[in-house]
Amino acid sequence: MNATKNVSLKPYNTFGIDVSSKQFCSISTVEELKEVISTHPKDELFILGGGSNILLTRDVNALVLHINIKGITIISETENTITVEVSAGENWHEFVLFCIDNNYGGVENLSLIPGNVGTAPMQNIGAYGVELKDVFESCKALDIASLEEKTFNKEDCNFGYRESVFKRQLKSKYILTSVRFRLTKKDHKLNVDYGAIRDELSKMNVNNPTIKDISNAVIAIRQSKLPDPKEIGNSGSFFKNPVVSVEKFNQLKSNFPNIPSYKISDQEVKVPAGWLIETAGFKGKTFGNYGVHKKQALVLVNYGGADGQDIYNLAKLIKKTVFRLFNIEIETEVNIL
Ligand code: EPU
Repeated sequence: MNATKNVSLKPYNTFGIDVSSKQFCSISTVEELKEVISTHPKDELFILGGGSNILLTRDVNALVLHINIKGITIISETENTITVEVSAGENWHEFVLFCIDNNYGGVENLSLIPGNVGTAPMQNIGAYGVELKDVFESCKALDIASLEEKTFNKEDCNFGYRESVFKRQLKSKYILTSVRFRLTKKDHKLNVDYGAIRDELSKMNVNNPTIKDISNAVIAIRQSKLPDPKEIGNSGSFFKNPVVSVEKFNQLKSNFPNIPSYKISDQEVKVPAGWLIETAGFKGKTFGNYGVHKKQALVLVNYGGADGQDIYNLAKLIKKTVFRLFNIEIETEVNIL
């Protein structure tokens, strides 16, 4: 396995930022992965999956390992459920479509999320009332130091809202190589409670939705407000929705009576960062070739040729303005290099 020098990472990140990598290697098997790591003992490694949750603000002075391991294998099945193992380099949405085609239920609400299967557990991807952890059985990951593959069960992963052990305690220590999902073959547990899904299904005149109907509804909703990275560079939600105390929320509500919220517990509520950013006046703002998306203020966009550092500076300005106006600290969801 030979690494290539000075490869542009533009095709490998959905923000479409043009930075260069010192060395680059596309990996198709776990064996190749072990070989490359053992033959480059001194090089710093930079692991790249689907590149859908990263903002590159500078050249990557490391050996970039592009995880392109493919394959979907059925591990076991009963009358009602099926366990499938999916290699890390499979595209997430293509995997969702594979499930819909085979009538395997559980991931339909997660349609059209950019990125690869191997990076989905890192931040416990979620949308429209479902999170990856709801269908996750286990994953395999390569220990970079010992080059041994280890299996992580759900409890090992410490999944939280856009969080996992791989993003925190084990950051940069393991490379995810495959994920096992437990899906339903019949009596699917449909999640239609997220308001927008119900509205979309009734627009489609669907009364008894199938998993395909739900997937189609989610695709329609996402396409109506989230930019397609193939057309406009972006990384989905740039910030996480902050969680605040009920006490603080009530104070805010007296100044901003329309502020939306979702109850988390008796003590805490989640506030949509998109609302805070829109109210701070940033929705649809453009600064030359980058800006804040017109239809969803949580999404920062690259209209073509933007510099990652400029987008990062905009994110910092948004964070500062939101803090000044609402006294709420918003955290980035996207990883920044
Ligand atoms: N809102 C605004 N202005 C905006 C955007 C949102 O006022 O510009 C308010 C509205 O009140 C709306 C509420 O925010 O009702 C919630 O908006 P939306 O349903 O679009 O969801 P979100 O909280 O902005 C989250 C996830 C998305 C996921 C959707 C649907 C996070 C950080 N984002 O967004 O995930 O698709 O819910 O479940 O949790 C992603 O992670 O990349 C992502 C796109």
